[in-house]
Amino acid sequence: MSSQPKPHILFTGQEIAATVSRLAAEISQDYHDKHPLLLGILKGSFMFMADLIRHLDFPLEVDFIRLSSYGRGSQTSGKVKVVQGLSSPIEDRDVLVIEDIVDTGLTISFLLDYLRKKRPASLKLCVLTDKPSRRQVPVAIDYLGFSVPDKFIVGYGIDWSEKFRNLPDIGFIEMED
Ligand code: PRP
Repeated sequence: MSSQPKPHILFTGQEIAATVSRLAAEISQDYHDKHPLLLGILKGSFMFMADLIRHLDFPLEVDFIRLSSYGRGSQTSGKVKVVQGLSSPIEDRDVLVIEDIVDTGLTISFLLDYLRKKRPASLKLCVLTDKPSRRQVPVAIDYLGFSVPDKFIVGYGIDWSEKFRNLPDIGFIEMED
């Protein structure tokens, strides 16, 4: 089996759970009477989405869209592709996008532009981790979990070359480790 770097933990599963619960309270306040569509961006957001919606005690729907820009590498290609599209129309829906990490911002700004053209009633963004030091395009985040340093972030759904998505904590890896 090939060796892989050991992640340095930034946020434990317990800290993540507290933050997810805090975000759910903010979202509940704003969406409890809106029957929103929560749109998770695959693959990275699957764990965050699953934990978040368990706290939301009001009618909602979920959908997923799969985008890709990093492939298996650690550098963004800058070109975002829709690998798997929406399963139902979002026109006149209150849409809340659920994203695991915003880095350069290229993926999410592409997606928000793509979704806006489909005329949702409203469009907001909930992000678990934000790496503002790497931003190339401005992104307005409505609900934010954690700010993270300019390191290679892994865990809780976020991968490095498809590994570490199953880590219950959020951490970072250093290539020389
Ligand atoms: C990751 C992550 C975000 C994007 C953020 O996706 O899930 O969607 O990169 O980077 P950016 O702000 O620089 O565009 P990735 O393409 O690695 O796919 P994945 O979610 O399947 O891991």
